[in-house]
Amino acid sequence: MTVQWNDLIARDARALTASEIRDLLKVADRPEITSFAGGVPDPALFPLDTFKTIYHDLTSDEAAGRRSLQYSISEGLPALRHWIVDDLAASGAVRSIDNILITCGAQQGLDLLARLLLEPGREIVVEKPSYLGAMQAFSMRRPTYVGINMDDDGPVLAELDAAFAGGARVAYLAPDFQNPTGRSYTLERRLAVLEIARKYGAVILEDAAYSKLSYEGDVVPSLLALDEVDGDPDAGTVIQLGSFSKTLVPALRIGWVCAPRTVIERLVLMTQASDLHVSTVNQEVACRAARDLFPGHLETLRDAYRHKRDTMLAALDEFMPEYVSYTRPEGGMFIWLTLPENIDSRQLLAQALEDAKVAFVPGQAFFCDQSGRNTARLSFATEKPERIRNGIERLALLIKRVHNQ
Ligand SMILES: Cc1ncc(COP(=O)(O)O)c(C=O)c1O
Repeated sequence: MTVQWNDLIARDARALTASEIRDLLKVADRPEITSFAGGVPDPALFPLDTFKTIYHDLTSDEAAGRRSLQYSISEGLPALRHWIVDDLAASGAVRSIDNILITCGAQQGLDLLARLLLEPGREIVVEKPSYLGAMQAFSMRRPTYVGINMDDDGPVLAELDAAFAGGARVAYLAPDFQNPTGRSYTLERRLAVLEIARKYGAVILEDAAYSKLSYEGDVVPSLLALDEVDGDPDAGTVIQLGSFSKTLVPALRIGWVCAPRTVIERLVLMTQASDLHVSTVNQEVACRAARDLFPGHLETLRDAYRHKRDTMLAALDEFMPEYVSYTRPEGGMFIWLTLPENIDSRQLLAQALEDAKVAFVPGQAFFCDQSGRNTARLSFATEKPERIRNGIERLALLIKRVHNQ
């Protein structure tokens, strides 16, 4: 008798489906395509020489080398957690290493938190649009999404209030240079968001994956830093997800969750049940790299990405027709396009790949309610400035042609 996979595969696992966009975007890697589709950092900015030295030093030191190849504790290396705690303190968030769990990227943090806080039918508040990877992690728990609209200052407060008033107690928010729009919340909006969350005893999952990639100087404090804890790091309402993927390299797969101790204790148990701990050697390397490279390397990244962002914005200003609007992000990697209602960005992508040799991500996938058919995400992170300008020019020409058809 053959295996009936459809009957065997658990409902939670069936909640995930392959995206047709992913198939379309397979061609985006071809050299003739200018790709604004990737959500990855520029590999040309990876600090290869520093890694060479770190790996050499680590493997030349008998004791440290052997320690870094051994199992380690599920919470994560104390030295790395100390570095994170010091870094958080420098940005105004006072926490202890007991509030930190090292995860396999921020993505594992999202998965663990989804398993901790969600269950079938339970509500989760997400921005419209929101990070697709987070919604994939949440969807495994088959929650009910409550999407809230955003304006240029952050989430629409009345909608957030209504979501909590309706019973939701968990919100996933990205206040800094959000993926996919590049937008950030103002200080006033952050404070108001916290006040509303406190009013209902709700939890905010703050995604800080892009927070350090700021290009305009003034950095607004994180929700974690603004969370009023009266000197008690375990009394807050905010759980923050951090990552080295965008500031060091993604391949180390080092992220972290900063949360009240009760939450960390639960997550540690879940980690023990799933992967025991994050790679010891990768944690050790990340810790050494962060110590050696920050803050200088962050300035290098900011200068490079600022230049690319400026190039893309200048090209959009020059070539896009006035009926296309776009965000002007102060950091991160993304610009968000809003096209006229009559343009479906999925159809546009097929034409863009074929005729304009340009790739982007259609925006609909980032909406929990499948709206946003006329939106698109552009990343300026990986292409060279000349290609960014030419690619935007070709995309603008295509949009004008499609609009006039
Ligand atoms: C907003 C956001 N959060 C989390 C992640 C996951 O990052 P990682 O697991 O590499 O730390 C990403 C990756 O692109 C992201 O864009």
